[in-house]
Amino acid sequence: MADKELSKILSIETSCDECSVSIVEGSGPKLTVHGLATFSQVKIHAPFGGVVPEVASRNHLEVLPSMIKEAIDQAKSKSGITQNDLDAIAVTQRPGLVGALLVGVSAAKAMAYALHKPLIPVHHLEGHACSIFLEQDLDLKFPALLAIVSGGHTTLHLVTSPPWEWDSEFLKTSCIGKSRDDAAGEAFDKTAKLMGLGYPGGALIDELSKKGNPKRFSLPRALPQKDILDFSFSGLKTAVSLIVKDLKKENEPLRESDVWDLCASTQEAIVDALILKIELAIKKYKCRQVWFVGGVAANTRLRSALGQAVFPLRPYSTDNAAMIGAAAYFRWLQGHYVSGERLLTLNAHASAQF
Ligand code: KG4
Ligand code: ZN
Repeated sequence: MADKELSKILSIETSCDECSVSIVEGSGPKLTVHGLATFSQVKIHAPFGGVVPEVASRNHLEVLPSMIKEAIDQAKSKSGITQNDLDAIAVTQRPGLVGALLVGVSAAKAMAYALHKPLIPVHHLEGHACSIFLEQDLDLKFPALLAIVSGGHTTLHLVTSPPWEWDSEFLKTSCIGKSRDDAAGEAFDKTAKLMGLGYPGGALIDELSKKGNPKRFSLPRALPQKDILDFSFSGLKTAVSLIVKDLKKENEPLRESDVWDLCASTQEAIVDALILKIELAIKKYKCRQVWFVGGVAANTRLRSALGQAVFPLRPYSTDNAAMIGAAAYFRWLQGHYVSGERLLTLNAHASAQF
């Protein structure tokens, strides 16, 4: 790794329903989190059964200034870091809800310009990928298999170099498999909704599965072919909806024990589908390490089933600004930032572009 000075970065994440600000310091491959303030909008969107984009943007607009203040206050009291010590500002530029992204990007631009700091635009999925470096000493082994499994994306990447050597096309050129329809996190959320559970469904299914029988319902594992590294979760959603319909004929509302068994069986099907393709990819590319990141990395069953994998620490699995600071730090080391008048034209983009 390049012998660079320590760098302190203030990072902002507003791509979906978490309004998060962090102050992260890079020194070598390990990153220290000096401050992390996150406001989750989950309770605001729960009555709608999913994220309402305009509501998300408006809430970011209201809450972001206080998250910035809180992260700075934390860094000051924990490590004596002040605003003047910051080397750069970073922000999630893509992908996500564009209105939500625009709030973060506008704030980051204003801060960077007013404070005369460079601005580092970050790809949200690269943030997830770099989340493993937060507060962890890692013994990296290449080639590594990176699985990014979140509410919006499920992709597999072949990683042959550390993030401080990744070029701007990394996510695209390294991609060896992806979901053809729903993301795995989306499968958790949609099946939870069918069962009448709240939003987001992943954590709820994770919890309720502990009381259920994973073998009670037989659910499909799509694309079993050995030469395919893609995923498909839409068939699972249909199968769960048919089971719910049948169960409702017997009991309306569903019996608690039926929900627990259906949660456990659904979780098993999603975890199995992920592990099947991960194992195929390891074999095909002779991978020496698995990095598993994204919101689904918080799943208890998956963590135990993939015991050898490298996971982010749990607070950095779901959306947070510290992971954006991590990816920004590695971009910063390569000189990928904008400054001065040039940063004023930076825009947000909804698409992942790969
Ligand atoms: O990475 P993330 O916070 O946001 C996106 O970038 O999408 O991922 C959110 C997803 C949701 O679909 C949520 O249900 C899922 O991660 N998730 C979980 C767990 N915690 C969050 N899925 C399974 N088990 C969990 N414990
Ligand atoms: Zn995410």
